[in-house]
Amino acid sequence: MKFFIDTANLDQIKEAEALGVLDGVTTNPSLMAKEGITGQENIINHYVAICEAVEGDVSAEVIATDFEGMVKEGEALAALHPQIVVKIPMIEDGVKALKYFANQGIKTNCTLVFSAGQALLAAKAGATYVSPFIGRLDDISTDGLNLIEEIREIYDNYDFNTQILAASVRHTMHVIDCAKIGADVMTGPLSSIKGLLKHPLTDIGLAKFLEDYKKGN
Ligand code: E4P
Repeated sequence: MKFFIDTANLDQIKEAEALGVLDGVTTNPSLMAKEGITGQENIINHYVAICEAVEGDVSAEVIATDFEGMVKEGEALAALHPQIVVKIPMIEDGVKALKYFANQGIKTNCTLVFSAGQALLAAKAGATYVSPFIGRLDDISTDGLNLIEEIREIYDNYDFNTQILAASVRHTMHVIDCAKIGADVMTGPLSSIKGLLKHPLTDIGLAKFLEDYKKGN
């Protein structure tokens, strides 16, 4: 299972990378704005800075919503750095753009996916990653993990190569449940990764080991 961090915060990205378990980064326009990164030039520079801080895939989202605009923007983003994955929304022209980029050998991440049907279309169009937003489904009393299960079943039925990127992950249990279901990737905040570390018995056990070591030395 790949771990992506879902942020545009460079310090957090570097902290996750230093942990040695990071496989990539996802961003979106809201995450960029949250870090105060606005204006096309600043956003472009920030994507490059993120690529230089990590080794894996970095999703960069197009703003255009028409086919020609998405192609133009996506090609420019892909040319920025070999690690860039073009993030395309699940809309009609987005499906066409996914197919176009697949034919060009450019990696894509189909974002804003909330149903099995949308995930099936993304795979048919040749998306590299599909991003079902599980947290946002949970927010409206719909089981986000059930969607991951449905997509896993469909993709396995036909050996689709599209990787399931569980997105909108909010906490460690989302990560563990997605791992049990067999999501290929999860993207979440740093807390959802570092939270996996924690267990009180580990802390108590380590304190006791150190205390006993000191007694004998
Ligand atoms: C995915 O790529 C999105 O950036 C992200 O996971 C959205 O998460 P949110 O619902 O916490 O905003």
